[in-house]
Amino acid sequence: MLLSSLLCACVASGALGASWIAPGAVWYDTDGNKIDAHGGGVVLRGDTYYWVGHASANQTPMMYSSTDLLNWKNLGKQASSVSGMWRPKIAKPNGSFWLFGQQDRYVLSLKSGEFIGGYGTSAKVHIPPDDYSYSDTGMFYDDATETWYLLTSADHNIVQINRINADGTLGDKLSDLRAGAYEAPGIVKADGVYFLIVSGKTGWRANPNKVFWSNSISGPWTGGSDIAPQDQNTYGSQNTFELTVKGSQKTTYIYMGDAWDSKGGASSNYVWVPMNINTGAKTIQLDYHAMWKVDVKTGAVSYPSTLKRYEANHSILSGRTVADEPNEVTFHNVTGTGSLQWLSLHYQVNNPESGEAYVIVNDEPAVNISSLNSRAGYHDSTPVQLKLRSGDVNTITFGFIGEDDHKIAVNALELFEED
Ligand SMILES: *[C@@H]1O[C@H](CO)[C@@H](O)[C@H](O)[C@H]1NC(C)=O
Ligand SMILES: *[C@@H]1O[C@H](CO)[C@@H](O)[C@H](O)[C@H]1NC(C)=O
Ligand SMILES: *[C@@H]1O[C@H](CO)[C@@H](O)[C@H](O)[C@H]1NC(C)=O
Ligand SMILES: *[C@@H]1O[C@H](CO)[C@@H](O)[C@H](O)[C@H]1NC(C)=O
Repeated sequence: MLLSSLLCACVASGALGASWIAPGAVWYDTDGNKIDAHGGGVVLRGDTYYWVGHASANQTPMMYSSTDLLNWKNLGKQASSVSGMWRPKIAKPNGSFWLFGQQDRYVLSLKSGEFIGGYGTSAKVHIPPDDYSYSDTGMFYDDATETWYLLTSADHNIVQINRINADGTLGDKLSDLRAGAYEAPGIVKADGVYFLIVSGKTGWRANPNKVFWSNSISGPWTGGSDIAPQDQNTYGSQNTFELTVKGSQKTTYIYMGDAWDSKGGASSNYVWVPMNINTGAKTIQLDYHAMWKVDVKTGAVSYPSTLKRYEANHSILSGRTVADEPNEVTFHNVTGTGSLQWLSLHYQVNNPESGEAYVIVNDEPAVNISSLNSRAGYHDSTPVQLKLRSGDVNTITFGFIGEDDHKIAVNALELFEED
């Protein structure tokens, strides 16, 4: 009760105005800190969503809560004595509460008598039937049978699904996927069809994630189709979890991925995208948008409307300053709200990895756009959250540093309606 009233106060104050899901952008919690919950999953309890993932610095499980999937409150470390636990996921078999994650190539389960906090070491989990060491824990709850399933992967390239028993121990293996080198499993169920999403194995670099399907949790799993165009590398992300939002008007399925930095470190971000699930064709396509949100009551997805667009008149910037060619574009009289606000930079680059675009707000130091959004250069709309001065008084300069062959076409700066 106390907690939910605190949450409502936070959301109502809307101090940060974080009103969109922008895949790849830096997301801030309600205290204004970067959200630190990687390789995680989200569960709904009452009318509140809880997101558990690992902290980038020491991989201790962190929990955040939200009633709208937009404004997240940091509920802190969940197992103060535990570190090195990757990809923790919530499970609530019965009576006690559980987190499952990977530690030293074993699955570790943590138990608590309450939902928030107090998770302590339970045991290294021995995975039936063979007790291999596994990693990349995933979690799926099947509400038809009120059963939780642990998904694991890694050794011997087997992705395996085991029931979690009511006492929190790991039960039978239901099925496995032996279709190649896959990891990072998650399951979403739609119209009775189970879809298993997995990533290829390319370290921290993104790859085209795939989907397999079955009419039963017991398999067999078939398919292996792409969930996004191959050249997009799953929009620069790796699967971690699938969330279903059942609204009064429609059900929206959300792919949750991690946009890992080169070391899986602190500058890793999150890529959440609605999924189009075709239960007839047994395919899933990510419905990518640079900014979107879901109304958790109705299930409806919406996108921001443009408030103002400042044209850059198709400015072309090149790698090194060339005579007669500007290396920066400046937008004048940009309208600010006086607090953090979303704006989008529209530009295209010939190679996002051979240069770095930056933005300068008024007289502040230049900020590399890739530090504000992992998708910088990979999509023609790059949303970032910036703090501008209140009124039509801001000067925003866009430029870049890059190699000789680097070309960048700057189209516009876009501001959005406050919703
Ligand atoms: C939950 O646990 C209680 C005892 O602790 C048991 O009676 C009950 O059957 C369990 N429910 C399920 C769904 O396993
Ligand atoms: C684009 O052209 C218009 C009209 O000539 C001009 O007012 C505007 O300042 C230009 N924008 C930029 C960013 O140069
Ligand atoms: C910017 O706004 C000021 C007034 O605030 C105005 O004098 C000036 O002409 C504007 N500049 C442009 C480029 O629109
Ligand atoms: C921004 O990018 C440039 C070019 O890659 C790099 O030299 C610079 O160190 C970066 N700045 C910061 C603050 O990371």
